[in-house]
Amino acid sequence: MKGTLLFFGLSLVLATGAMAADAKKVANGKFLFEDWGCKACHSIGTQYNQDPTKGPDLKGVFGRESADWIKKFTKDPQAMIDSGDKRANELYKKYGTVMKKLKVSDAEWNDIFEFLKTQK
Ligand code: HEC
Repeated sequence: MKGTLLFFGLSLVLATGAMAADAKKVANGKFLFEDWGCKACHSIGTQYNQDPTKGPDLKGVFGRESADWIKKFTKDPQAMIDSGDKRANELYKKYGTVMKKLKVSDAEWNDIFEFLKTQK
Protein backbone atom coordinates (compact mmCIF):
# COMPACT_ATOMS: atom_id res chain seq x y z
CA MET A 1 0.00 0.00 0.00
CA LYS A 2 2.69 2.41 1.02
CA GLY A 3 4.62 1.44 -2.09
CA THR A 4 1.63 2.09 -4.34
CA LEU A 5 1.05 5.48 -2.82
CA LEU A 6 4.68 6.37 -3.15
CA PHE A 7 4.67 5.26 -6.76
CA PHE A 8 1.52 7.25 -7.46
CA GLY A 9 2.91 10.33 -5.78
CA LEU A 10 6.16 10.04 -7.66
CA SER A 11 4.42 9.67 -11.04
CA LEU A 12 2.38 12.77 -10.29
CA VAL A 13 5.49 14.77 -9.46
CA LEU A 14 7.21 13.55 -12.63
CA ALA A 15 4.19 14.28 -14.83
CA THR A 16 3.81 17.79 -13.40
CA GLY A 17 7.50 18.40 -13.92
CA ALA A 18 7.25 17.37 -17.58
CA MET A 19 4.28 19.64 -18.11
CA ALA A 20 6.07 22.59 -16.54
CA ALA A 21 9.06 21.97 -18.83
CA ASP A 22 6.78 21.94 -21.89
CA ALA A 23 5.04 25.14 -20.85
CA LYS A 24 8.43 26.76 -20.41
CA LYS A 25 9.50 25.71 -23.91
CA VAL A 26 6.30 27.02 -25.45
CA ALA A 27 6.63 30.35 -23.64
CA ASN A 28 10.27 30.65 -24.67
CA GLY A 29 9.31 29.71 -28.24
CA LYS A 30 6.76 32.51 -28.34
CA PHE A 31 9.36 34.93 -27.02
CA LEU A 32 11.87 33.78 -29.66
CA PHE A 33 9.28 33.99 -32.45
CA GLU A 34 8.83 37.66 -31.59
CA ASP A 35 12.47 38.35 -30.78
CA TRP A 36 13.86 36.84 -34.01
CA GLY A 37 11.41 38.88 -36.07
CA CYS A 38 9.43 35.96 -37.47
CA LYS A 39 6.39 38.03 -36.63
CA ALA A 40 7.44 40.68 -39.18
CA CYS A 41 6.76 38.26 -42.06
CA HIS A 42 4.40 35.68 -40.59
CA SER A 43 0.93 35.91 -39.17
CA ILE A 44 -0.51 33.29 -36.86
CA GLY A 45 -4.20 33.68 -37.49
CA THR A 46 -5.12 37.22 -36.43
CA GLN A 47 -1.82 37.73 -34.58
CA TYR A 48 1.35 39.42 -35.84
CA ASN A 49 2.01 40.61 -39.41
CA GLN A 50 -1.25 40.79 -41.31
CA ASP A 51 0.25 41.45 -44.77
CA PRO A 52 -0.25 38.11 -46.54
CA THR A 53 2.34 38.90 -49.23
CA LYS A 54 5.23 38.81 -46.73
CA GLY A 55 5.03 35.15 -45.82
CA PRO A 56 2.67 32.25 -45.15
CA ASP A 57 0.38 32.22 -42.15
CA LEU A 58 1.84 29.77 -39.65
CA LYS A 59 -1.40 28.81 -37.94
CA GLY A 60 -1.59 25.03 -38.11
CA VAL A 61 1.69 24.72 -40.02
CA PHE A 62 2.54 21.53 -38.11
CA GLY A 63 -0.74 20.05 -39.35
CA ARG A 64 -0.02 20.67 -43.02
CA GLU A 65 3.73 20.05 -43.24
CA SER A 66 5.77 17.27 -41.71
CA ALA A 67 7.91 18.19 -38.72
CA ASP A 68 10.89 16.93 -40.66
CA TRP A 69 10.23 19.22 -43.60
CA ILE A 70 9.71 22.26 -41.36
CA LYS A 71 12.95 21.54 -39.55
CA LYS A 72 14.92 21.21 -42.78
CA PHE A 73 13.30 24.16 -44.51
CA THR A 74 13.69 26.68 -41.69
CA LYS A 75 17.32 25.75 -41.14
CA ASP A 76 18.26 26.72 -44.70
CA PRO A 77 15.38 27.90 -46.94
CA GLN A 78 17.53 28.70 -49.97
CA ALA A 79 19.22 25.29 -49.89
CA MET A 80 15.80 23.67 -49.75
CA ILE A 81 14.65 25.61 -52.84
CA ASP A 82 17.89 24.79 -54.66
CA SER A 83 17.48 21.10 -53.85
CA GLY A 84 14.33 21.16 -56.01
CA ASP A 85 11.98 20.48 -53.10
CA LYS A 86 8.48 20.86 -54.53
CA ARG A 87 6.80 22.57 -51.59
CA ALA A 88 9.68 25.02 -51.01
CA ASN A 89 9.58 26.00 -54.69
CA GLU A 90 5.81 26.49 -54.64
CA LEU A 91 6.15 28.83 -51.67
CA TYR A 92 9.03 30.69 -53.29
CA LYS A 93 6.93 31.21 -56.45
CA LYS A 94 4.00 32.44 -54.41
CA TYR A 95 5.89 34.91 -52.21
CA GLY A 96 8.70 35.89 -54.58
CA THR A 97 11.18 36.17 -51.71
CA VAL A 98 13.28 33.59 -49.97
CA MET A 99 13.10 33.39 -46.22
CA LYS A 100 16.48 34.36 -44.81
CA LYS A 101 18.70 31.79 -43.21
CA LEU A 102 18.62 32.87 -39.57
CA LYS A 103 21.27 32.25 -36.93
CA VAL A 104 18.77 30.58 -34.65
CA SER A 105 20.33 27.71 -32.67
CA ASP A 106 18.91 24.18 -32.74
CA ALA A 107 17.69 24.56 -29.15
CA GLU A 108 15.94 27.82 -30.05
CA TRP A 109 14.34 26.26 -33.13
CA ASN A 110 13.03 23.44 -30.96
CA ASP A 111 11.32 25.86 -28.61
CA ILE A 112 9.91 27.87 -31.52
CA PHE A 113 8.52 24.61 -32.95
CA GLU A 114 6.96 23.71 -29.59
CA PHE A 115 5.25 27.11 -29.65
CA LEU A 116 4.07 26.72 -33.27
CA LYS A 117 2.68 23.25 -32.50
CA THR A 118 0.31 24.86 -30.02
CA GLN A 119 -0.95 27.30 -32.69
CA LYS A 120 -3.46 24.98 -34.34
C1 HEC B 1 11.88 38.39 -44.12
C2 HEC B 1 10.65 37.62 -43.95
C3 HEC B 1 10.68 36.35 -43.11
C4 HEC B 1 11.17 36.18 -41.82
C5 HEC B 1 11.86 37.20 -40.93
C6 HEC B 1 10.88 34.82 -41.46
N1 HEC B 1 10.24 34.17 -42.50
FE1 HEC B 1 9.52 32.24 -42.49
N2 HEC B 1 9.01 32.44 -44.46
C7 HEC B 1 9.08 33.60 -45.21
C8 HEC B 1 8.65 33.33 -46.58
C9 HEC B 1 8.57 34.34 -47.71
C10 HEC B 1 8.31 31.95 -46.62
C11 HEC B 1 7.82 31.14 -47.83
C12 HEC B 1 8.95 30.35 -48.42
C13 HEC B 1 9.96 31.21 -49.17
O1 HEC B 1 9.60 31.85 -50.16
O2 HEC B 1 11.12 31.25 -48.73
C14 HEC B 1 8.53 31.43 -45.26
C15 HEC B 1 8.26 30.12 -44.86
C16 HEC B 1 8.28 29.66 -43.56
C17 HEC B 1 7.80 28.38 -43.11
C18 HEC B 1 7.13 27.32 -43.98
C19 HEC B 1 5.66 27.70 -44.03
C20 HEC B 1 4.75 26.74 -44.76
O3 HEC B 1 3.58 27.09 -44.91
O4 HEC B 1 5.18 25.67 -45.15
C21 HEC B 1 8.00 28.33 -41.76
C22 HEC B 1 7.64 27.19 -40.82
C23 HEC B 1 8.61 29.58 -41.38
N3 HEC B 1 8.78 30.38 -42.49
C24 HEC B 1 8.98 29.90 -40.07
C25 HEC B 1 9.66 31.06 -39.71
C26 HEC B 1 10.18 31.32 -38.38
C27 HEC B 1 9.95 30.43 -37.17
C28 HEC B 1 10.84 32.51 -38.43
C29 HEC B 1 11.61 33.20 -37.33
C30 HEC B 1 12.66 32.44 -36.66
C31 HEC B 1 10.70 33.02 -39.79
N4 HEC B 1 10.00 32.10 -40.53
C32 HEC B 1 11.19 34.24 -40.24
C33 HEC B 1 9.51 34.83 -44.76
C34 HEC B 1 10.11 35.08 -43.53
